[in-house]
Amino acid sequence: MQGQALPGFRDFYPGDAALRNQIFGVWRDVAARYGFEEYDGPPLEPLELYTEKSGDEIVGQLYEFEDKGGRRVALRPEMTPTLARMVAARAPALKKPIRWFSMPQLFRYERQQRGRLREHFQLNMDLIGEPGPLADAEIAAAAVDVVRTLGFGPEVVRLRISDRRVVAGLLGHAGVPDGMLSLAYGAIDKIERDPPGVLADRLVAGGLSAAIADRVLAVGRLRGQDALDAALAEVPDGADIAEDLSACVGALADMGLGGFVDLDLSIVRGLAYYTGVVFELFDAGRSLRAICGGGRYDGLLRALGGVDLPAVGFGMGDVVLGELITGAAPAGARAAPLDAFLVAVGSDDVSHVLALAHRLRDAGRRVEYALKAQGLGKQLKLAAARGARRAVIVGPDERARGEVVVRDLTDGGEQQIAVERIEDALANV
Ligand code: HAM
Repeated sequence: MQGQALPGFRDFYPGDAALRNQIFGVWRDVAARYGFEEYDGPPLEPLELYTEKSGDEIVGQLYEFEDKGGRRVALRPEMTPTLARMVAARAPALKKPIRWFSMPQLFRYERQQRGRLREHFQLNMDLIGEPGPLADAEIAAAAVDVVRTLGFGPEVVRLRISDRRVVAGLLGHAGVPDGMLSLAYGAIDKIERDPPGVLADRLVAGGLSAAIADRVLAVGRLRGQDALDAALAEVPDGADIAEDLSACVGALADMGLGGFVDLDLSIVRGLAYYTGVVFELFDAGRSLRAICGGGRYDGLLRALGGVDLPAVGFGMGDVVLGELITGAAPAGARAAPLDAFLVAVGSDDVSHVLALAHRLRDAGRRVEYALKAQGLGKQLKLAAARGARRAVIVGPDERARGEVVVRDLTDGGEQQIAVERIEDALANV
């Protein structure tokens, strides 16, 4: 068929748009409850905004081209560099900590697969200007609260959390030089996707010995507080480097969210700029891709805007979240049903239907009526097909009495209602 959407791009038919709006509604609700203000930036940015700091993986997925003015540009694959630039440009005037959220559409030329498309919408919540672990916990809690608001508990969604400072400390102790940390992070990031032999070969090809490569993978396999404590006991100042991570996990427990949390050192995040606590949300059954990812990135504002401000935030896409929602309740999101379908008994009643429909819409009611002359039976069928809860029937006899008939389309019950009381009658569900 001609004229299909590009691979990885979506047409949003009304049911899809309703699901998207449900997700956007929850995102805005949680952002508001946490006191975050909305911002946005341009969908097209200078290419070097991403080539500088985002890391090879995302740079390899850029939609990039030269514009008609000869500039190298890219569709935004993520929001964080734009945010860092915007904040850095006005840093002195902005009250800290800055709590901003955005819901951009992002573009990545990824291999299309379940949960990963070439465009997606992403809630970004970022807290800038506060270096402490309570800020990390605040951001992780907001991500968890999105899934809680959608009705998912810890048996459905897990928060997997780690800290790059802890991983770096353990890797350093394992013999990884500083210059090879990003090589080691790259292998750990893929620990659940690629076989251990492949990862070890990659580490050795990058310059590590086979023994150190094994130790890198052992760090990435550490799970839970006890295993972490035991590993850190071997490292000088081990407890100190885990202080912020422990404080963050403790704060989440104080908030009553401890049941969601898994300490998991395989979480290092694919993007290059993270410097501290890092986390991802996953479905507990692990059949879906990551629902959300984020962490602390204290060096990015300096690198992109010359301003030294610590920052922590997350991005949560609409694609996997949508799969989670439709998986739990397949008939899930629907556009709000009509409050009433107005029915004209005869052609003389049509102008009264138009006037009444307009009055009801002005009063905030959702109403429709037939757009061409039709018999009563056909109009009632149409009303049912449109999912209306009630039909409001306007006929000559009722009009003469200043009334309409309100028919409940679920049980067929009818009531005569004075026209001036119709708004109230439709407000009662
Ligand atoms: P990210 O891990 O690249 O992080 O993306 C965050 C989330 O966006 C993922 O967990 C997933 O839900 C969604 N996502 C990413 N790529 C795709 C895709 N191709 N199709 C569907 N969904 C996708 C970032 O983008 C960071 N900038 C997040 C951040 C904000 N860190 C600090 N502040």
